[in-house]
Amino acid sequence: MNKSQSIIILGIESSCDDTAAAIIKDGKLLANVVATQNVHKLYGGVVPELASRAHQQNIIPVVDQAIKQAGITKEEISAIAFTSGPGLMGSLLVGVSFSKAFALGMDIPMIEVNHMQGHILAHFIETSGTSESQNSVPSFPLLCLTVSGGHTQIVLVKNHFDMTVIGETIDDAAGEAFDKAAKIMGLPYPGGPLIDKYATAGNPKAFTFTKPQIQELNFSFSGLKTGFMNFINNETAKNPNFVEENKADICASIQATIIEILLIKLKKAAKQTNCKQIAIAGGVSANSGLRAALKSLEQELGWKVFIPKFEYCTDNAAMIAITGYYKYLKKDFVSQAISPKARYALK
Ligand code: KG4
Ligand code: ZN
Repeated sequence: MNKSQSIIILGIESSCDDTAAAIIKDGKLLANVVATQNVHKLYGGVVPELASRAHQQNIIPVVDQAIKQAGITKEEISAIAFTSGPGLMGSLLVGVSFSKAFALGMDIPMIEVNHMQGHILAHFIETSGTSESQNSVPSFPLLCLTVSGGHTQIVLVKNHFDMTVIGETIDDAAGEAFDKAAKIMGLPYPGGPLIDKYATAGNPKAFTFTKPQIQELNFSFSGLKTGFMNFINNETAKNPNFVEENKADICASIQATIIEILLIKLKKAAKQTNCKQIAIAGGVSANSGLRAALKSLEQELGWKVFIPKFEYCTDNAAMIAITGYYKYLKKDFVSQAISPKARYALK
C-alpha cells in the first residue's frame, strides 16, 4: 500500500487497438504511454483477434515504461483504474485481467472506468508545471461532443460523474464516416488523419454531398457513406484517375460535410440547453477542420470552447487515470468479480 499522503493512480486502456498506461499523482499527469498497433493497417480496419494478441504482448512493457517515466516505484501506486467498456471484448479482457492481477499482487483497490466518461474527463488532465492547463479546465454544466471511431454523442455534463447523452448516432460514428470515405478513396486505415492532411490543400466547396435529415439531436452517417461511394464510382467510371487528380478537393469536401453535420446538432443542443461551455472529445476531435470551425464559433456564438491536447484526443490511458483519480476520491472501487462490458451506456 502507498504509505505517503499522495494519491497515485495507474490507468490502463485497452478497449480497441491502442495499449496504453498512464500515471497520475494527485491529479497531475506524470507519464502517458501508448503502443499503437500497426498490424491493422494491412487489413483496412481493426481485426479484434489480432488486437487482443497485440495487447497481450504490449501491456507489461507499456506499464513498465509508464512507471519508469513517472519516476515512481510500483509500491507507491494507490489504485489501478482500467477501462471496463465499451469496446472489443477480447481487447478489454486483456486490460481487465492485467488490472485484476496487478491489484491482487500489490494489494491495492481497483477502479473501473467507462471509456466514454474517460474521453470527456480528458479535459481535466493537468500536466505539471503548466499554468495554461489550469486556465483551460472547463466548468459545469458543459456540453461535450464525443466523436470517435465507435461513438458520436452529445453529452450534457453536470459534474465529473453526472453525464447524460442527449443526442447520438443512429448508425455509423463520425470517425467511421471518415475512415469509410478514406477506404472508398483507396486510402489506408485509419483514414481520418489522412483526410485531414489532404483536406488542408483542397477546396471544401468543390463537391457537395447530401446531408441527413434526422430528428432531434441525433446523427446519421450511413447515407453520406452510400452517397459518397456512388459519387466516387460514377466519377471513376468516367475518369479512372478522378480520385488521384482531385484528392485534396474530395477530402476537403467530405470533411466539411461531416463537420457541418456535427455542428448543426451541436449548435441546436447548445441552444436547447442554454449552455455555452462547449467541449470536444474522442479521436475525431484531433481533426484540424473541426477545431478551426469550433474556434470560429467561439466568437460568433459567445461559446467557450475546450479542445484537448492532441495526445488526449485519441485513445490514451491518461484519461482513464484521471477518471480513476476522481473515483478514488469517492472510494468508488470494484471487486475481483468485475467483468468487461462490450456495451456500456454512459446514461
Ligand atoms: O477515440 P479514438 O482514438 O478511438 C475510438 O475509441 O474509436 O478514435 C479513433 C477515430 C478513427 O476513426 C480515426 O480515423 C479518427 O478517430 N481520427 C480522425 C483524426 N484523427 C483520428 N478523424 C479525422 N481527423 C483526424 N485528424
Ligand atoms: Zn476512444
